[in-house]
Amino acid sequence: MSKLFRKKPVGYDDSDFGMKRVLSAFDLTLLGIGAIIGTGIFVLTGHAAAGQAGPAVILSFIVAGLACAFAALSYAELAASVGGCGSAYGYSYAAFGELIAWIIAWDLILEYGVSVAAVANGWSGYLNDFLRSVGLPLPEALTKGPTTLAWNAYLGGALEWFGFDPNAESVRNGGLGGYINLPAFSVIIGLMLLLIIGVKETARMNAIAVAIKLIAVAVFIAVAVFNVNSDNWFPFLPFGWFGHNEAGHPIGVLAGASIVFFAYVGYDAVSTAVEEARNPQRDVPIGIIASLAFCTTIYVIVSALMTGLIPYPELNVSSPASAALLRVGHNTAAGLVSAGVVAGLITVMLVLYYALTRVIVGVSRDGLLPSYYSTVNRRTHTPVRTTVIVGIVMAIMAGFIPLGILAELVNIGTLAAFILVCGGVISLRLSHPELPRPFKAPGGIVLPMLGVISCGALILFLPYETHLRFIGWLALGLVIYFAYSIRHSRLAVAG
Ligand code: ALA
Repeated sequence: MSKLFRKKPVGYDDSDFGMKRVLSAFDLTLLGIGAIIGTGIFVLTGHAAAGQAGPAVILSFIVAGLACAFAALSYAELAASVGGCGSAYGYSYAAFGELIAWIIAWDLILEYGVSVAAVANGWSGYLNDFLRSVGLPLPEALTKGPTTLAWNAYLGGALEWFGFDPNAESVRNGGLGGYINLPAFSVIIGLMLLLIIGVKETARMNAIAVAIKLIAVAVFIAVAVFNVNSDNWFPFLPFGWFGHNEAGHPIGVLAGASIVFFAYVGYDAVSTAVEEARNPQRDVPIGIIASLAFCTTIYVIVSALMTGLIPYPELNVSSPASAALLRVGHNTAAGLVSAGVVAGLITVMLVLYYALTRVIVGVSRDGLLPSYYSTVNRRTHTPVRTTVIVGIVMAIMAGFIPLGILAELVNIGTLAAFILVCGGVISLRLSHPELPRPFKAPGGIVLPMLGVISCGALILFLPYETHLRFIGWLALGLVIYFAYSIRHSRLAVAG
């Protein structure tokens, strides 16, 4: 039993693996913004407004932002005090012990891996729009994967057999769909090649991409603000705060919050850069909190404007920001926004993909996965095997699974990780009150407690099928842990 709770020492472990400490608080904030602003605001705002919350999707963003803020304070406290090799996984190894650390890592693998696939889907929507606008449209069947209804038919009704309602999901995700989302599939393969070669000057590339993305946001705001029709904001709460639709899926502001939560995913990626931060104890908390505050402000403004431009039922398209601008006759602005999103979302995928390989390499170095996954290629100095394996899996997911399902899976994995992070802060405050905490969440354990409660509530508002998929993922993780990791971890080997 005690094996499950064996811990790495708590305290600031400043050891590193030869990474250069080059990132300032400002770089880390940009890294956060690079990973955060993406498919969530540019695509899922439209889905959540049309299907779950109406114009009150603005409130959904505030609710989801609050849950993230509680978790962010906990992240910041752990990043500053516990140290280790970055990410919630590293912190929880010290705070909670091996089994919980493994579960967090397993959640993070789900979060980052499926996020890349989901963002690729959102990216593809804007790219297709752009190609259509220049007269080079892709055939419809190559722009989206089959829906659950189609998969159910291919598999002879097997999905129904597992308790899913493929009809309900297909209504949400669009009929039978197509054959494959080819742009989404291809962009991940492209990023995989880039990461294998080794992305030099990532921080500078990221800064340029962030600038392009922010220009797209600025163009949208500048044009939309003069074209709002306030009638579109009413009824403001067409689906109330919570309830269910005829298919039994959650609707209302809180269900909307559990979807648009995706827009905040990625701020925790800042915590994976601890090893490269100049002054991690000060700069990582600043990077996390500043990027989250900035993005929440942007989200509230953009979602208010998007729902003010056109009636919310019309926002259920793959590129709602540019579609809304087109509808009010601003074709050039719509084109600029699409181009900005296509360029800007590349960085979201890159940061999340990079964070994913980081977590897997970290876990494998600790012996919880075979060392095969942390081998660094001698020529390229990158973890080529892990990059290729996860790249292929993510490309297949992006090509064949609809955005809605992917985003919900990401959210449940991330929310579960956040709950454990907040729980970690509470547990360390009680077990190690003397630990130096250069950054401390104010108000005792109240805010981490609120983090546990609010993230837990958002999980409840996700669809039932998502809960089942997540349970399946956790069960697989536990099988791997008990079949392999428990005997091979570095702590186990060291006795
Ligand atoms: N937060 C990121 C996005 O919205 C994952 O695309």
